[in-house]
Amino acid sequence: MQESRFSANIKTDSKTAAWCKRLHWIYLLLLAGNNNCQPQMHRLHFYNLCICGNKIFSEKQAANNQKIKTYSCLDSFTELPPGNKTNCFLFNIPIMQLSSLLNRFNEPETLKMAKLGRELRAQGIDVIDLSLGEPDFDTPQHIKDAAIQAINDNWSHYTPVPGFLDLREAVCFKLKRDNNLDYQPENIVTSTGAKQSLANAILALVDEGDEVIIPTPYWVTYSELVKIARGKVVEVRSSVESGFKITAAQLEAAITPQTKVFLFSSPCNPSGAVYSQSELAALADVFRKYPNITILSDEIYEYINFVGKHESLASFADLKDRVVIINGLSKGFAMTGWRLGYIAASAPIAKACEKLQGQFTSGTCSITQKAAVAALKGDLRPSQAMTEEFARRREKTLALARAIPGFTCNAPEGAFYVFPDVSSYYGKKYGDTTIQNAADLSMFLLNEAHVSSVMGDAFGEPQCIRFSFANSMGNIEKAWARIGAALAKLK
Ligand SMILES: Cc1ncc(COP(=O)(O)O)c(C=O)c1O
Repeated sequence: MQESRFSANIKTDSKTAAWCKRLHWIYLLLLAGNNNCQPQMHRLHFYNLCICGNKIFSEKQAANNQKIKTYSCLDSFTELPPGNKTNCFLFNIPIMQLSSLLNRFNEPETLKMAKLGRELRAQGIDVIDLSLGEPDFDTPQHIKDAAIQAINDNWSHYTPVPGFLDLREAVCFKLKRDNNLDYQPENIVTSTGAKQSLANAILALVDEGDEVIIPTPYWVTYSELVKIARGKVVEVRSSVESGFKITAAQLEAAITPQTKVFLFSSPCNPSGAVYSQSELAALADVFRKYPNITILSDEIYEYINFVGKHESLASFADLKDRVVIINGLSKGFAMTGWRLGYIAASAPIAKACEKLQGQFTSGTCSITQKAAVAALKGDLRPSQAMTEEFARRREKTLALARAIPGFTCNAPEGAFYVFPDVSSYYGKKYGDTTIQNAADLSMFLLNEAHVSSVMGDAFGEPQCIRFSFANSMGNIEKAWARIGAALAKLK
């Protein structure tokens, strides 16, 4: 806090310390108001704050020193008192200047719920975490061994921005082995998680006003990245009844001259929907009519598939150059903390992503890259065993979720979540709590059942809640028993 240019008026007496304490509180309040009320406030530099008797006055001062109308969000703030300023404390408080970008997007709801769960656990409460978006398995031993070897071999320097050549070759090897797709290292950019791969691709493709079609429900980060790029999210709605998939007709109806990108995941987080070859063929027929649309195909749950072979839109040869495959090692190899994602794309798109990444993070961790080579080229049996365990938990979870009165739950074909429609509970009450939406119900379950979940609003589907089954069978059984008991209290 700086003294203002009116500092001559400041009269120090015994109350100063108390006022300073209050000022700290007011300062926080101003920052809160700054976020909630007037986004343009971020561009201001200072508040002049005047404390006069037991009254508080404020005025804003812009960077160019011009006074701006008094901030009106806080009732007690009015114009500075005219005339005599004796007995006033006047301060000139710098306001941290955050960019307007921060007002354009939200932080991930999934991370928020995990944090709330952790906070309750720290208080000694036995919270079962069904908000989790990561396998509860250890990384397979041969991958860990490769990382240890890489450390001992001193792979400790900066890496090429798109990743080591042997890693990009390993990605090409995987795409041929698993998907029968031919790519060259120049088509591959590896990144610090598939999240960065997505961010690169969206920033490389989307300009202000461009429309990005995203079927609901979708992974939380998609819409927020589009907003960061100043694009416009165009949601195409699906439902439990349609197995959370969209039709070719729905896709075509959403396309406009501004459509730049189609972005989806199969298997889908959160619904578990998996598009079959024939369903993708129907979408491909639409894309053929609109050659300017690029398809971002997030295939990170590829290995966690309960219904058959994974299919990719990139397998349609005439579309391949317009498809950006997003994939990574987090889910299929239980490597969320290692941070390795990649794209496979046409050379110009790959180059654009490399250019962006060169200014953000450069190449991802050298040790992770060496471990990733072992993962991509090595034994897939640990990944398969993990999927078999997920399949058992899926059966159990599905039976328990479908036994809950009022939940409507589709069978996930991939990934590790159920995504029931819970809207029959809206309007119900328990004590002082009324459930108005999925966020209320998710919080109710956290507080009453001590089970964390993620509200569907975060995925563009406000009727639903996501419950993960990436947890032990024992915890799954315990969690769903608690959920049932808590929901029975709602009348
Ligand atoms: C659909 C989807 N895509 C991408 C990611 C990002 O994965 P990561 O950044 O861990 O590679 C996630 C993570 O939850 C996801 O669910």
